[in-house]
Amino acid sequence: MRSYGEGTQSTGVVQITHDLGRSVEDEDVLFVEDIVDTGLTIAHLLDLMRTRRPASVKVCALLHKPARRRIEVPIDYLGFTIEDKFVVGYGLDWGERYREVPYIGVVEHADLAH
Ligand code: IMP
Repeated sequence: MRSYGEGTQSTGVVQITHDLGRSVEDEDVLFVEDIVDTGLTIAHLLDLMRTRRPASVKVCALLHKPARRRIEVPIDYLGFTIEDKFVVGYGLDWGERYREVPYIGVVEHADLAH
């Protein structure tokens, strides 16, 4: 799923870039998310998943930025709550950059074009 495109602000439009290849009916589903920001991506995913009738759905996220929350979503397993900074590394990218950085870093001046 993606909602960001190139920038540091969620577009609010959640796109499915790769869907499941098989049924999850009666299965226990665990979403492993890098970061929950506005919550829109996970909310959309949970809605979509409920139509596929799994036995249960849980959410695991490495990071949570509650300051920007636009919708309440349950996070069953959480690594760290962080302040309202745009972060990269450890799989998190900024327009596909810095994903491979082996630690989580803050992008300063994330408002500027890159
Ligand atoms: P949400 O829909 O606003 O909760 O955004 C969730 C998605 O936005 C995450 O899975 C990330 O791909 C991306 N995202 C949100 N905040 C950051 C950030 O600080 N750095 C990198 N990606 C982010």
